[in-house]
Amino acid sequence: MPAVRMQKIRLGSATFVLASLGLALGARAGTDWPSVANGPYEQRYSALDQIDAGNVSRLGLAWYYDMESTRGLEATPVVVGDTLYTTGTWSRVYALDAVSGRLKWRYDPQVPRRVGAWACCDVVNRGVAVDAGKVFVGTLDGRLIALDAQTGGLLWSVQTTPTDRPYTITMAPRVIEGKVLIGNGGAEYAGVRGTLSAYDENDGHLLWRFYTVPGDAPDASDPQALARAAQTWPDPRWLPMGVGGTVWNAIAYDPQLRLVYFGTGNANPWNRYVRNGADSDKDSDNLYSACILAVHLDDGRYAWHFQTTPGDAWDYDAAEHLVLADLVIDGQPRKVILQANKNGFFYVLDRATGQFISAAAFADQNWARGIDPKTGRPQLAQTPYDGAQGRIVRPAPFGAHNWQDMSYSPDTGLVYIPAASVPFLYTPEKEFSPLIGAWDTGLNLAAQAAPADMDPLLLKALVKDAVHGALVAWDPVAQRAAWRVEQPMIWNGGTLATRGGLVFQGTADGFLRAYDARSGAQRWEYRLPNGVIAPPMTYEIGGVQYLAVMMGWGGAFALAGGEAAKVPDRDYRGHLLVFKLDGQATLPPPQPRELGVPDPPPSTASAAEIAEGSRLFNQHCGVCHGANAVSGSALPDLRYLSKAQHGMLQAIVLGGALENAGMPNFSRQLDATQVAAIDAYLIARAQTTRAALTQPGWWARVKAWGYRLIAPLLNWLNALKY
Ligand code: HEC
Repeated sequence: MPAVRMQKIRLGSATFVLASLGLALGARAGTDWPSVANGPYEQRYSALDQIDAGNVSRLGLAWYYDMESTRGLEATPVVVGDTLYTTGTWSRVYALDAVSGRLKWRYDPQVPRRVGAWACCDVVNRGVAVDAGKVFVGTLDGRLIALDAQTGGLLWSVQTTPTDRPYTITMAPRVIEGKVLIGNGGAEYAGVRGTLSAYDENDGHLLWRFYTVPGDAPDASDPQALARAAQTWPDPRWLPMGVGGTVWNAIAYDPQLRLVYFGTGNANPWNRYVRNGADSDKDSDNLYSACILAVHLDDGRYAWHFQTTPGDAWDYDAAEHLVLADLVIDGQPRKVILQANKNGFFYVLDRATGQFISAAAFADQNWARGIDPKTGRPQLAQTPYDGAQGRIVRPAPFGAHNWQDMSYSPDTGLVYIPAASVPFLYTPEKEFSPLIGAWDTGLNLAAQAAPADMDPLLLKALVKDAVHGALVAWDPVAQRAAWRVEQPMIWNGGTLATRGGLVFQGTADGFLRAYDARSGAQRWEYRLPNGVIAPPMTYEIGGVQYLAVMMGWGGAFALAGGEAAKVPDRDYRGHLLVFKLDGQATLPPPQPRELGVPDPPPSTASAAEIAEGSRLFNQHCGVCHGANAVSGSALPDLRYLSKAQHGMLQAIVLGGALENAGMPNFSRQLDATQVAAIDAYLIARAQTTRAALTQPGWWARVKAWGYRLIAPLLNWLNALKY
């Protein structure tokens, strides 16, 4: 049965949207876009309908703004009155005239660049909260800052995290009834513990703090809830260090129930056998990691939790976007909370009680046979890693759906999910000891690596066959797809649904598109010079509807994805783009990054040294410089190091020479012999690449064609092996 239908009543110039079940807080009246997901229900739906299926083909660029960055842009702008507020890389805040694009003010919190080493997933920021004449932003180094909305002047600033631990903030704060809510990220690194905190919007003093995982916490808002969680951690030795469960993205709020909802990330380290020791397969749910939680707004007391992936072994965070909706299920009106989880299942829960209603797979997954229809617990398909050998599992840690927000249209009753299908070889690390501040998964991330001399054309064919994305229109009541559009890449942008009957989405390969919300038919397409990961939003001023989106390829997959994340001729410069009907502006001519042909020094290393270099590179460096030393982002592609740079590798990696550009110092993790092995691997990769790029064009085309034919077979054989 479709969702409750909305009725629209026009009163003069104001538009009120009422649902038959009270005011639908997701579909805000008016023309602003007051918070990142347009209201506490976080539906990312707009009641504006000037742009519709009939005229969307006339959509053109109205203006753009240069975001001074070549890395990921993930923010959704907020529009209040005639001002558009957004954030760029390194947590910079911008206030622009929403009609003309003129800069009103800009605030740079001067995040120390060495903090970039702690940002697992790029130096991104997902936007601001605006209330009572103030603009709130969380900074990458863990501050929560309040600015004067008129001038951009600093009103107050508090450090929300310990500065000697690898905490980061990339999420947008939410402000509810004078309380500014903020969490943090960092659970890919050792030494981080998840919290959700509420600060007073007037002066920034801490009102309450909910700790998501046990440890010692005298200031916890609900010590009993933490004590209960502690019983699900059989190896208490880990707890003092900080065991993850970070609140790094989603928050939603129900004003009637006065409950705040949020999702938590993975427990730390990822490898549950390390975390839980011999008892891993019993009593080791590791609460409240990988959970959807509700707490009371007034004091942060626990209300309920639902754990999507108990005892997670795959990095299946539950921090993806949470949407509140009022649906009719089995003839009953239900107040629900919706999530397209990283683990590949779409969850519908009762948001008053946390009771499980239903779940179904919205994307490829093979880790679970299904979800128990009574309890909502996953039924595992097999033990997670199959000993030392490892298993190929879908989804990868990138998720079947990640932070890229979905949207919900009360008109169609459908949820629009940027979905992904990507495999990952999960293999435990042989010897593991945590090191505070270092990547800390307990898995051998290098197990995936291709041989250093694999033909780049074969690597590309294998990746293209294995990794694909889709825009999925999901019916949350029937728990099935209404339509889906296949996409060649993953890590596409979040979505926006409008009363104009359209769904908007930007893509990894550089398109902005509009689809018919009911049928999925494509209605409009705009070619972009760069990839989009952020969700679009819309607003109306002076009778004109605008569509805005941040364009800037980046984030975890862009950094780590290697060949799968690569689009040739990409202009990495980030822009805010604003469209309107008959817009006439044009972007400056693209400046694609041309890498040409690598020119490495001769290789003198043994095959064993190169193999060791591959292991070390793909374990420590690939998360930023790309798997197999193929950079899919604006970070340097290390196959293209000059001979002089090869000579400086020790100083860069062990001497911290580029620490102030965000390149980590690895002196605690690696020694000079190991860096020499990495160097040998980079030289080998560069030579393989050089050979491929200098062969005759006709021969490359023949090979590429042949590899495309055999790639499915090779991937299938590989899947049998693991
Ligand atoms: C947290 C992300 C991150 C990780 C992990 C990382 N790097 Fe970097 N690396 C960077 C950034 C950021 C830069 C600086 C880019 C710039 O100069 O703007 C950089 C620059 C470099 C450069 C200089 C390249 C050039 O063209 O100037 C080298 C060499 C390098 N890294 C090697 C490594 C090696 C080897 C590893 C693994 C041991 C590694 N990096 C791991 C982020 C990372």
